[in-house]
Amino acid sequence: MANKKRLGILFGGRSAEHEISIQSARNIIAAADPEKYEVVPIAITKQGRWCVGAFPPEPNGHGAIDSIPVGAVEVIPSACPDGMGLLVPLASQNATTFPGALDVVFPVLHGTYGEDGTVQGLLELAEIPYVGSGVLGSAVGMDKVVMKRLFQQAKLPVVPYVATSRRDIQVRLDELCKEIEAEFRYPVFVKPANMGSSVGVSKASNRDELVDALQLAGDFDLKILVERGMDAREIECSVLGNEDPISSIPGEIVPGNEFYDYAAKYLDDNSQLLIPAPLKPAQTERAQKLAVEAFKSLDCAGMARVDFFLEKKTGKFYVNEINTIPGFTRISMYPQLWAASGLSCSKLIDRLVELAIKRHREKARTRYSLNPQPRTNDSSH
Ligand SMILES: Nc1ncnc2c1ncn2[C@@H]1O[C@H](COP(=O)(O)OP(=O)(O)O)[C@@H](O)[C@H]1O
Ligand SMILES: [Mg+2]
Repeated sequence: MANKKRLGILFGGRSAEHEISIQSARNIIAAADPEKYEVVPIAITKQGRWCVGAFPPEPNGHGAIDSIPVGAVEVIPSACPDGMGLLVPLASQNATTFPGALDVVFPVLHGTYGEDGTVQGLLELAEIPYVGSGVLGSAVGMDKVVMKRLFQQAKLPVVPYVATSRRDIQVRLDELCKEIEAEFRYPVFVKPANMGSSVGVSKASNRDELVDALQLAGDFDLKILVERGMDAREIECSVLGNEDPISSIPGEIVPGNEFYDYAAKYLDDNSQLLIPAPLKPAQTERAQKLAVEAFKSLDCAGMARVDFFLEKKTGKFYVNEINTIPGFTRISMYPQLWAASGLSCSKLIDRLVELAIKRHREKARTRYSLNPQPRTNDSSH
């Protein structure tokens, strides 16, 4: 097909989810229709250096890219909207195989420096359409405290929580523990506000465990969240769209460990994904409705996975969190829920690219000045 779109796939990066991002990118690159896209894989090392031209890059023994792979061209990300796009080769590099301007970028970066609005800001400055939420939706979706406040404001049910900070832990730990104990019975869950993949998340069943959990979470973020421990099933929905988003059928996670921690997510083979989740029709409908409302309440775009707790005792749904760049590996919930809802991964990528371009076009129509036309020959001074 003529006019293939040049699709940049950004992956790796400086987050704790670097390795998962590589797996997600592999899956997206394999599924992207070669008739429609010229895929440009753009790897970001663990240290934050960017490169093109070597895919699949050779990760180290831990599955990470921690140096520029042999044969790759190191690039400097450029924010200049000059039509040349995001990638500028380092002067010292042989740039003969350098790709041209990108038509659209798919940031496949989970967590910090990728899912949090930072890369989205760069893509906005460079004026390149990109998949997924903008700066605001990405940033608020990444901060569990701000996210919950917006959910509450939209009258969405959230698990009761106390927001605290590394500073509180350092200067008034005893008082803080008493406040938490006055608010909740054990167990409680302690989490850093800006993380993912359960990094720094612990369940605490007594004061000693609470102190350890707070200190661990404080290593990962300045803002910390303590929540009532839920005895609940974990239900997830995939959302797709811009102004009129739709939800997939819900899926269910059955964690193999005590909760869905990092090991249960990626290392152990003992967690189960149930697709579709065994729910009554009214529960399915409720989850889908809440998923779409949660997506809208944070100003998200393109895609997101919305995760719920379904409390066993009460049968009540609570919105736990949103992931604006959900896992996209072969076994990840987001693409699997769409596949089960009738949309293959390849078609899902087409839809996400379409949504990215549509949103970019819509934004390009926005006026940034009161003047009807940019005044090129301004002689008024
Ligand atoms: N309040 C809670 N009650 C019970 N389990 C929880 C609670 N909060 C988190 N968990 C468990 O910890 C996991 C990770 O927490 P989550 O808030 O989803 O953070 P992350 O962004 O790291 O995925 C959840 O999937 C769930 O298994
Ligand atoms: Mg989660």
